[in-house]
Amino acid sequence: MAAQAEDVLKSRMAVARRVVDHIRHGTSDLAEAPMVNAASVYTDPERHAREREVLFKQTPQFVCLSTELAEPGAFRTFDETGTPIVVVRQGDGSVRAFLNICVHRGARLVREAEGKAKRFTCWFHGWTFAADGRLAAAPEAERFEGGMAGRDHLISVPAAERHGMVFVVPTPGASMDIDAHLGAFGEILAGLNLEVAERVKTDILPVASNWKYALDTYGEGYHFAALHKQTLAPYFRNDITIYDRYDRHHRIGFVERDWEKWVDQPEESWGVRAEAAGIHYLFPNVVLFAGSVSPGKTYLTIFRHYPGEAPGETKTYKTIYAFGGVRSEEHRAEVEAAFDATAHVVRTEDYVTAAEGWKNLTALPPGATVVYGRQEIALQHQHRALAEAIGMPLPQLNPIAQAAE
Ligand code: FES
Ligand SMILES: [Fe+2]
Repeated sequence: MAAQAEDVLKSRMAVARRVVDHIRHGTSDLAEAPMVNAASVYTDPERHAREREVLFKQTPQFVCLSTELAEPGAFRTFDETGTPIVVVRQGDGSVRAFLNICVHRGARLVREAEGKAKRFTCWFHGWTFAADGRLAAAPEAERFEGGMAGRDHLISVPAAERHGMVFVVPTPGASMDIDAHLGAFGEILAGLNLEVAERVKTDILPVASNWKYALDTYGEGYHFAALHKQTLAPYFRNDITIYDRYDRHHRIGFVERDWEKWVDQPEESWGVRAEAAGIHYLFPNVVLFAGSVSPGKTYLTIFRHYPGEAPGETKTYKTIYAFGGVRSEEHRAEVEAAFDATAHVVRTEDYVTAAEGWKNLTALPPGATVVYGRQEIALQHQHRALAEAIGMPLPQLNPIAQAAE
């Protein structure tokens, strides 16, 4: 653990040096060129259906932290991809996931959102399943004679656990290589110490926008000065981004105004903490935000974005955790207040804009585009990665320069 804290401190120092360098020179991490994207990526129902299938049913989905599924028998349902799933902690400590569908006649087997149970009994006719999915008992089983063949087990789906996070692929028969999915980003996630993060508060933020348009609001600080004039701009610079890419995932850091004083101070006095920070984008739909809207305070907020059936429907599941666990009732109240502060900014500023902006995109003529500037580097990357995953043409980099050639 000590070695890990040292690694995190080293990486925070490296980031701090980049920050100071950017403050000194008036620079930022930037993309090579602006990137243009079709407005229809946010509005096209066919593309939307393809995203739901490939990105949400065939790609590893983060479900919850390990601490939210701590004890043997702990379970949690997961319906957000459209396929009903139940994830269960096994007696041997592993995690398994099943379709939350009774193999008798399809009733919803587990009806609570989460809890702890030794067995699951279907409320329709009372078939009972063990935590490992085996059928343990069925009333009047003898009356089914040969009809029970192949019904002695719930239908399983791939499940895995890494760095204190639980993942599933919500499709029976699918495979999951979670290490390949995370790649080098796994080490960054490990630095967040999620194994000891404790959930404090959770809520759903609905927004009448495309899920990617909502997700985009977490991917650039360029909008702080205008949209978050009163809430974030007083504390954070909008013109400096620290951007690190890890294959399909990335991490971005925004610069607190308070750090401007570092420019005139020796490195040793910066007071950089061995605490991970930044916006961590976990492909395709999750943002892990280590930090807070009040500078100097660090909490973990995880935003999971799910598309509805139509392109303009999104649900964001927002959950805040205390790093290292809740220390006292005061600490709990503080984390809850941090949750409310972020939720207020997201609801009244980001998501109001996301709903209006998305509706506007639907009113544009065919062939219309949007553009991401060089400072919106994370969004450029995110949209290329998403397009690539669903086999669509990649958005163009710097098309103006290309046209001039
Ligand atoms: S549908 Fe579950 S026991 Fe009949
Ligand atoms: Fe924002």
